[in-house]
Amino acid sequence: MTRLIIDTDPGIDDAMALFAALASPELDVVGLTTVFGNVTVETATRNALTLLDVAGRADIPVAPGAAAPVAMDYRGAIPQIHGEDGLGDGGELVAPSRAALDITAAEFLCREAPGATLLAIGPLTNLALALRLRPDLDTLVEQVVVMGGNALGPGNATPAAEANMWNDPEAADVVFGARWPVTMVGLDVTHEVVLPGAGIDELTRRDTATARMLAQAVPLYRDFLAEVNGLDGIYLHDPSAVAYLLDPGLFRTERWPVRVETQGISRGKTWPSLGNTDDAAPAAWQGRPPVNVCVGVDAPAVLDLLRARLS
Ligand code: RIB
Ligand code: CA
Repeated sequence: MTRLIIDTDPGIDDAMALFAALASPELDVVGLTTVFGNVTVETATRNALTLLDVAGRADIPVAPGAAAPVAMDYRGAIPQIHGEDGLGDGGELVAPSRAALDITAAEFLCREAPGATLLAIGPLTNLALALRLRPDLDTLVEQVVVMGGNALGPGNATPAAEANMWNDPEAADVVFGARWPVTMVGLDVTHEVVLPGAGIDELTRRDTATARMLAQAVPLYRDFLAEVNGLDGIYLHDPSAVAYLLDPGLFRTERWPVRVETQGISRGKTWPSLGNTDDAAPAAWQGRPPVNVCVGVDAPAVLDLLRARLS
């Protein structure tokens, strides 16, 4: 069983990822750490506590994290995608049954991450801050699975950058350059994992607390994607990172060192050094361990896996 900490900015697809992880016996979720991104960190923290209540897992601690990126102001929430409440504005959210921990996400990671796997499905600020607090942490963590980045294709937050990387490029560059094993589950594969409308209806019509929560949360995200991308369905960005943890064989990966752009109009773009080993890589990529970059996915199999876990 994998001891797992989820760093999250819930967020509608974060909620789906959390429910899929909690429904997977292979994963022992021992804590959530929250971060700004889709919503403010205050809202992310309230939503994390509420989602755990809905899933009947109020035993799992939540540590509140960063309210802003390490090197710039927080750009603000994206209510047009995730709602003012961060969970689709689809109805009243029951107040959390308990409070979050009184230690920060970075402190929680320093204490609990050794020997654990980190699933990072928001901006990477908390992980970078934890490394600053405990510089040997990257030698003690099993692995880091990141939903974020775009190795070979365009961004979604800007033409250049994916949202989680765009929200804190400096933190992301630190995380991709540290010594822990990192897998990048980026838009190159998550844009292939689309849950169609019929699949959404199937998931949300069940009479369970989690299905009712998703029935409340998903419509706004679905409508946004229909209107902006002409999509019939939703991208399962964060749940795809859970699928990687459950069955990495469903993904094709390359091992490339990755830098994250921190300047100019491409700020947040993840740049792999394609095909280069360390000494042959250009200077800016040298001395950085290769990242396990997902470049292909068996999307139907990932969808089947996630629908099974979410059902
Ligand atoms: O680009 C998609 C990512 O940004 C997902 O984690 C989504 O929740 C948003 O945080
Ligand atoms: Ca997220």
